[in-house]
Amino acid sequence: MIILAFESSCDETSVAVAELLGDSGESRRILSNKTATQIATHALYGGVVPEIAGRAHTEAISGLCYEALSAAGMTMKDIDAVAVTATPGLVGALLVGVNFAKGLALSYNKPLIAVNHVKGHAAAAYYENPDLKAPFFALVASGGHTSLTYVKTPTEFVPVGRTRDDAVGEAFDKSARRLGLPYPGGAEMDRLASAGNPDAITFPSAALRGSFDFSFSGLKTAVMNYLNGCAQKGEPVCREDVAASFTKAVCDSVTTQLEAAWKNYRFERLVFAGGVAANSHLRRRIGDFCREHGVKLYMPSVPLCGDNGAMIAAQAFFEYHEGHLANSSLNAKATAGKSVF
Ligand code: KG4
Ligand code: ZN
Repeated sequence: MIILAFESSCDETSVAVAELLGDSGESRRILSNKTATQIATHALYGGVVPEIAGRAHTEAISGLCYEALSAAGMTMKDIDAVAVTATPGLVGALLVGVNFAKGLALSYNKPLIAVNHVKGHAAAAYYENPDLKAPFFALVASGGHTSLTYVKTPTEFVPVGRTRDDAVGEAFDKSARRLGLPYPGGAEMDRLASAGNPDAITFPSAALRGSFDFSFSGLKTAVMNYLNGCAQKGEPVCREDVAASFTKAVCDSVTTQLEAAWKNYRFERLVFAGGVAANSHLRRRIGDFCREHGVKLYMPSVPLCGDNGAMIAAQAFFEYHEGHLANSSLNAKATAGKSVF
């Protein structure tokens, strides 16, 4: 089937056309995946401004839809279903995608599929890994989410652990901001860390014993305190060393909690996805962890880690086959309830 998918949960508007064939979508092809980023606009404010995000999605979405269809060589006649991220995210941003997709599905009489953004991130891993099949564990790390889930079936995500405070991407971005890097600083922190000494500064890496949850706000505060201390003493700051030491603490914390979960569940397959899964150091450390524990690791390639429409199409395929169809009363929800699913 051919799915036209929309993503507008935060600061990227993205529209994709994907072909998904076979009973469980074994053959998957991204025919187009067009993204308009708002980063330059939000960078002026040091973070995403929800009102501006909603307006920018509104401006971009129709043009991107035409672009995605024409890049795939298709018109609405060729589309079998319309999919859209409905939760979680910034509600004013989500509403733009939801309303656009609803209008399109209604006027062309196509089935409408609502997709959870976090599930979509994990589903991005299917494209380049045709052997990936549920059950598996998924660690989704992004600017708004950090969650470890047991993916029992392609549509049933059982929460195992989640951040108790900041998402890991938020800790990257806020620490980067204090280092004077432009928003969002995650990718630049990655580059700086490669040139720094990870043992130069000892930052705390939280390991929440007795749970598989994460915590990154203490680490973020430790970076602030370190930088304030340097400023007060008039000491120079080596940004590379701060980035490298911060990244080491993130990697230690994530792998410690993964280890605890593995000891409990003995999972054999792990998906690592979300914007932060683009981080070269985390990819390496989680790769090492999986090799040492005999776990098969699946990671989307870097361009599919950040928010994109194709990941929504991949998850929509399974939702459709489970009969999870939305209708014209579909609404956007900032959070998906107590758990993010
Ligand atoms: O998944 P995503 O595009 O949007 C959300 O759902 O939040 O993730 C964006 C986050 C931002 O915090 C960004 O700084 C972070 O992913 N990010 C990175 C890297 N590339 C993007 N963080 C660390 N290292 C990277 N290479
Ligand atoms: Zn995301």
